[in-house]
Amino acid sequence: MTEPTITIVPDADQVALRTAELITQTAIQAIQERGRFTLVLSGGSTPEKAYAILAEPRFADRIDWPRWELFFGDERFVPHDDPRSNAAMADRTLLSHVPIPPRNVHPIPTHLGTAQECAEAWQAQLRTQFPSLPQFDLVLLGLGDDGHTASLFPGKPALWEQSAWAVGSTPGVLPPPVDRVTLTFPVLNAARHAVFLVTGEKKADVVHKLLRQNPPISEAPAIGVQPATGTLTWLLDTAAAAKL
Ligand code: 6PG
Repeated sequence: MTEPTITIVPDADQVALRTAELITQTAIQAIQERGRFTLVLSGGSTPEKAYAILAEPRFADRIDWPRWELFFGDERFVPHDDPRSNAAMADRTLLSHVPIPPRNVHPIPTHLGTAQECAEAWQAQLRTQFPSLPQFDLVLLGLGDDGHTASLFPGKPALWEQSAWAVGSTPGVLPPPVDRVTLTFPVLNAARHAVFLVTGEKKADVVHKLLRQNPPISEAPAIGVQPATGTLTWLLDTAAAAKL
């Protein structure tokens, strides 16, 4: 695994702008090399600004949208029109504003009886796109102040899953208190590029823990993101990086 790249920019707006540029450049390269760009979106609030910027003409006009295949790293076990849904957030900020063909957007199913059933259905859907372990071009990740990423929460069985591509999980300690569906570490660590987007002073302690203290994965799951052959980037604002 290569050493992570740590990029620190002044504020959340700059994180959003750098994220939009990174996505655009990675997409251009992926499409040149392989004819398509596979992107995994993060949920939560941090990436919202980046998604909205990506929808602006200064970026959207540079993008070959029909060559994008868009996925999600995790999802709350709620209907897709629920305001807590990561798919709803992506639609509100990005997807409803750009000409990506609907068939190229792959939301995580949340309509079955349990989160685990949804994870199994999702994996079956992924297998129609990827005959073997997916190697996504770019995986965007957030970081909870409890050290979780995607919906890989401290102390949960999902942390130890090494064969399934997706699993259901009970909630972590951070809201919203709903079950989740999440990609597992084997998929995250197969990515060509994994990027954490972290802003705000509330994240400074957990960023220090992750980047300076090498905590156990059960305590700070985000430490488990260590791409086998891909790159890992931490894109931080100065507030989140304040204790590095
Ligand atoms: C989710 C995300 C989760 C999020 C972190 C950070 O479904 O909420 O996948 O992993 O990225 O909790 O959330 P914020 O960006 O809102 O701080």
